[in-house]
Amino acid sequence: MPNIIYVEADGSRHEVELEEQMNLMEGATMNLVPGVEGMCGGVASCATCHCYIDEPFLSKLPAQGPQELEMLKTAKGRKDNSRLGCQVLVTWEMEGMEVHLPEEQGQEPLS
Ligand code: FES
Repeated sequence: MPNIIYVEADGSRHEVELEEQMNLMEGATMNLVPGVEGMCGGVASCATCHCYIDEPFLSKLPAQGPQELEMLKTAKGRKDNSRLGCQVLVTWEMEGMEVHLPEEQGQEPLS
């Protein structure tokens, strides 16, 4: 199974093995990676699976669909390399890929 490395905004790393065709949101939530919520269940309507993918992997991913592009407009900290994790299916081409998580995501406000 491909190894994927989730990297929190503070640099904490979580290396996990994911089955092919699982999406990056599912892989994070099933492995209890902080900062990925997946509140809509993976239908591209919440942006709580927002992540950043760097080259050389970014250009290997399938293009964003119209719903992903629309939802990313609402994501805080959106960048050119932003993706919705629920819309990215794991393949062997992603072996060793780092998935960077936004600072704002999954942070509970202190009370
Ligand atoms: S889980 Fe809701 S947009 Fe990805």
